[in-house]
Amino acid sequence: MKAVVHERYGPPEVQELREVARPEPAEDELLVRVRATTVNQTDCHRRAAKQVFWRFLEGFLRPKQQILGTEFAGEVEAVGSAVTGFRPGERVFGWGWNAAAHAEYLCVRESALVVHMPDGMPFEEAAAICDGAYQGLAALRVANVGAGTRLVVYGASGSLGTAAVQFARHLGAHVTAVCTAKDVELVLSLGADEVVDYLREDFTRNGQVYDVVVDAVGKYAYTKCRRSLRPGGIYVATDRLRNLFLRYWTRWFDSRTVVFQAEYPTRDDLLFYKSLIEAGEYRAVVDRTYPLEDVVEATRYVESWQKTGNVVLTVA
Ligand SMILES: NC(=O)c1ccc[n+]([C@@H]2O[C@H](COP(=O)([O-])OP(=O)(O)OC[C@H]3O[C@@H](n4cnc5c(N)ncnc54)[C@H](OP(=O)(O)O)[C@@H]3O)[C@@H](O)[C@H]2O)c1
Repeated sequence: MKAVVHERYGPPEVQELREVARPEPAEDELLVRVRATTVNQTDCHRRAAKQVFWRFLEGFLRPKQQILGTEFAGEVEAVGSAVTGFRPGERVFGWGWNAAAHAEYLCVRESALVVHMPDGMPFEEAAAICDGAYQGLAALRVANVGAGTRLVVYGASGSLGTAAVQFARHLGAHVTAVCTAKDVELVLSLGADEVVDYLREDFTRNGQVYDVVVDAVGKYAYTKCRRSLRPGGIYVATDRLRNLFLRYWTRWFDSRTVVFQAEYPTRDDLLFYKSLIEAGEYRAVVDRTYPLEDVVEATRYVESWQKTGNVVLTVA
């Protein structure tokens, strides 16, 4: 089968489309024919491994996991003898840190993060459900966002941001979305109550006070946000190691708190996303779609930090 392989860390060009052995499903696994996957910031961090943190996770000298791709949608090609909940031909989507979804086929345990696709959904959209959704939901959960919470989603047009806006609306929060003019209509359609264009206005200087700020793109520091958080307010970080230090500092020495969003999804989470999609309350926003063989170009676009929602790879 064809797969995108990177044998060393480096720029997008270290990725190559190659012929590799097709995986064989164990007795408790499904063999999935991948129809669509994504290039997300997690893939980029892992491939570039610029910070030593990523070398701890991925291997110091060379990547242990040489096929990336955490999200997938496709058709069940075959099932192991002990699999009872899936049959060949069924359409599924899922997520896995080592899913190795940048390939024509992958194997996944029946008990892992794989569920049936929402009816009528194209593979391109189903592949893009999980990464933004799990991070967006985790960001709201860690800050106890609920009905009436006055919330800012900074970077509301990204994968995590578009997900956070939709879940926040579902939870009944009052959402101020921060993005640029090109995405105002989009974030309003996703449920934002107010939109601030960060190129024209600094939301921390508009006189408003918020309960929670989610920095969905890791680009607005806590020290700048602090003035627009009420005492007891929470800043949710999604990136930057300095926030791990601030998490402890603010807990002991500050009247506002920094928390870090870091939580993997569960199977129940995937079923929750699916139920919201079927109820018309959630959608995965897809920006550009590339064929698998254009993975380098797709990756360059993701690393431009200008994508709106998600970037999808289709697998012929
Ligand atoms: N904690 C974890 O487990 C984990 C895992 C993976 C990724 N992450 C982090 O999660 C964050 C979100 O990832 P993502 O995939 O959602 O990002 P993304 O989709 O790639 O973000 C792109 C969006 O960010 C906006 N943006 C870029 N620069 C901005 C700025 N200075 N101010 C405001 N908006 C800006 C862009 O809008 P414009 O073009 O309009 O500026 C674009 O829509 C990242 O920080 C990533 O590193 C965390």
